[in-house]
Amino acid sequence: MAMPMVGRAPAVEELRRAWARVHAGGKPITAVVTGTAGTGKSALVGAVLRDTGDATVLAGAARVHSPAPYDWLAAVLAGRDTTGFDVPPDALAWLKQDPDVPRERYTPDALLRIAVATVRALVGGAPAVLVVEDLHALDPASLNLVAELAATDLPALLLVTSQPATAAVSPQLAERTLARLGGRPGAVRRHLSGLLPAEVGEILRQVYGSAAASPDVAEAVWRRTDGNPYRLSELLAVEGEAILEQPRPDLTAREREVLGLLAEGMANKQIATALGISVRTVTVHVSNLLRKTGASSRTEAALWALSGRRSGDHQAGWRDNRRAARSQSSA
Ligand SMILES: Nc1ncnc2c1ncn2[C@@H]1O[C@H](COP(=O)(O)OP(=O)(O)OP(=O)(O)O)[C@@H](O)[C@H]1O
Ligand SMILES: [Mg+2]
Repeated sequence: MAMPMVGRAPAVEELRRAWARVHAGGKPITAVVTGTAGTGKSALVGAVLRDTGDATVLAGAARVHSPAPYDWLAAVLAGRDTTGFDVPPDALAWLKQDPDVPRERYTPDALLRIAVATVRALVGGAPAVLVVEDLHALDPASLNLVAELAATDLPALLLVTSQPATAAVSPQLAERTLARLGGRPGAVRRHLSGLLPAEVGEILRQVYGSAAASPDVAEAVWRRTDGNPYRLSELLAVEGEAILEQPRPDLTAREREVLGLLAEGMANKQIATALGISVRTVTVHVSNLLRKTGASSRTEAALWALSGRRSGDHQAGWRDNRRAARSQSSA
């Protein structure tokens, strides 16, 4: 579900200013964007990259399922012409994770130097952007390389995204690397939290039209998604415009039937008879209903059910169930 970008203008601005400084002065700047899964780190990077003109962008990420040494660099090098680079071809092939290169013949230090030299060669002399996505998922060699790159004099904006280090394969190493990166002089650090209720409302308005979302709906959708943009996009994809109706908790078919009858003003005993179940079972359904709808009494739950009546399909479904229940009980 494509959503308009909201709520990140200050972060975009700050990163664009950092790029402008790199571009103007040729001095390196490190930027670290953290946030849990789906908070919009990649979207933010995308917004910044829309503004970097024809600068060289070297972007890579870990292959989450099987991180291999120098994954970031291998991703950057994939499909790139590296002929004429002043680095040993066998080492380069190894860094590209070429399957035909049997094993490393270089010490870890030598490989690190060669990796840095390779990035230098790729950058050339002009201001560039190095994008390291999902640092938390990277292999130790890549983490080392990224920290090393941050400490070079490359005319580059080193733009790193990461989930919190606790999500990393090796949390301590990720933590240490993030601390090192964020501690670079002039570093930009941004932690992305979920969107605010008003920002969720803004997205709903932009997607479904200006009158679409009331603050109540925005608040409810915000609560269901924690303001997480990824979860919001999933919810919009699954529920579409139905999301603008009063939020419905997940009730079982039976609970909906019970709620429908409760809204008719029936007592538990009548509901039991209507549905052909025991009073005790009805009591359990009612208490689950109260919990799920957040209603403090059966009257409130009944009102809640009635207030949703206008809004379409599942309510029609409830009415049908109710009719079925009645005709059963009268049969
Ligand atoms: N500020 C925003 N406004 C509207 N939509 C957004 C915003 N941020 C992200 N999105 C959308 O939410 C989804 C998830 O965002 P994104 O992929 O950038 O998250 P992420 O932090 O990179 O997640 P991951 O940690 O899984 O890589 C995308 O569809 C993206 O377009
Ligand atoms: Mg991402």
